[in-house]
Amino acid sequence: MEVILTSVYIAGISAILSMIIYVTDKIVNNYGDVLIDINNQTKELTVKGGASLLSTLGEQRIFIPSACGGKGTCGACKVVVTSDIGPVMPTELPYLSPEELKISTRLACQVKLKTNVEIAIPDELFNIQQYSAKVKSIEQLTYDIREVRLALPEGTDITYKSGQYCQFEVPPYRKVKESTFRAYSMSSNPQDKENVEFIIRLVPEGVVTTYVHELLEMNQEINITGPFGDFHVRDTDAVMVCVAGGSGMAPFKSIFNDMLNQSTFTDREIWYFFGALTTKDMYYLDWLWDLDKKYENFHFVPALSKPQEGEQWNGEVGLITDVMDKYLKKEITGKREGYLCGSPGMLDACMDVMKKNDMDPEKIYFDKFA
Ligand SMILES: Cc1cc2nc3c(=O)[nH]c(=O)nc-3n(C[C@H](O)[C@H](O)[C@H](O)COP(=O)(O)OP(=O)(O)OC[C@H]3O[C@@H](n4cnc5c(N)ncnc54)[C@H](O)[C@@H]3O)c2cc1C
Ligand code: FES
Repeated sequence: MEVILTSVYIAGISAILSMIIYVTDKIVNNYGDVLIDINNQTKELTVKGGASLLSTLGEQRIFIPSACGGKGTCGACKVVVTSDIGPVMPTELPYLSPEELKISTRLACQVKLKTNVEIAIPDELFNIQQYSAKVKSIEQLTYDIREVRLALPEGTDITYKSGQYCQFEVPPYRKVKESTFRAYSMSSNPQDKENVEFIIRLVPEGVVTTYVHELLEMNQEINITGPFGDFHVRDTDAVMVCVAGGSGMAPFKSIFNDMLNQSTFTDREIWYFFGALTTKDMYYLDWLWDLDKKYENFHFVPALSKPQEGEQWNGEVGLITDVMDKYLKKEITGKREGYLCGSPGMLDACMDVMKKNDMDPEKIYFDKFA
């Protein structure tokens, strides 16, 4: 009898606690409508509070750059918040420089909208659009890299600088319960306004790349948003020292084709170092060797770090950092700019080598595929 009474007592307490939590949640987390004032009343939005600034702006079709889809791991979603919204979160600190903190820069994905807020964003963000694009072709470039070409909806077009990226949205699938967003650099020529192309490497267990490699089908519609990013060729006469690995090829395909189209390809010396493990990880070789043969100013230097026995290979062997170091010391002199794309590890190592070879860190531009 005593046991039964105790159970009823505990169940009663649990029910009351649940009710208190439910009511508190409704009261505390019901922020009602809040006003977002963008760029000193250039645009004012009345929205429901409670969600992140990033997702709320996205719902209003104002797309802030975001490479990680709001996970707080890319630092791309910076906005200047000019009104008081409380202290910076520890999750934001690693991505904000002292200068950015001084002007109240915040990560939009980490800021929860609780009160009216005033923000300042670059005007060009108003032009970013979301497209429902259709898969036009899928080509397997290596065992783990795919080229995906998308046709934009009729009547729309896209304007971007070669080197920029779009955000892919893949729908919920298998155990993934919600839509997932990731950044992919466009490999297409910006002159083509109707199609966009991407080069996507499969990351084992990766949410978006698994979808792209295993489930994405011809003619399927997929949401992309963009263009974003400031990785693009600077208009100078410095030698371009470009380095990529894996799908880091994507922005360079776009950049070289764009420069060819605009007849600026021969205006300056370009070195393109591409690192891979074995010949199985190499692709677009014919196109790049053709450019190398045809244009005196363009030097293609592919390197294998782990060539397999018996592999047919006439190029460089070794880590791409060591190969580049050799060329920087002997052949690439004068004013130089660095352009890097690929995994964070490779990029950091390349940056060290470039700096050791007296390249100005301010003139090393990169997109870390993290
Ligand atoms: C500006 C920008 C441009 C990019 N452009 C391209 C591009 O053109 N092509 C392309 O293939 N990728 C590109 N990326 C990377 C891309 O955005 C994703 O991070 C990547 O495809 C993994 O996504 P996922 O959802 O499959 O993996 P997730 O589900 O995010 O990751 C699964 C696991 O793998 C790890 N992981 C994530 N990425 C890698 C990696 N690259 N190598 C090893 N482990 C990893 C994660 O830490 C996690 O533990 C770009 C990234 C940025 C920031
Ligand atoms: S979207 Fe990546 S840190 Fe905010």
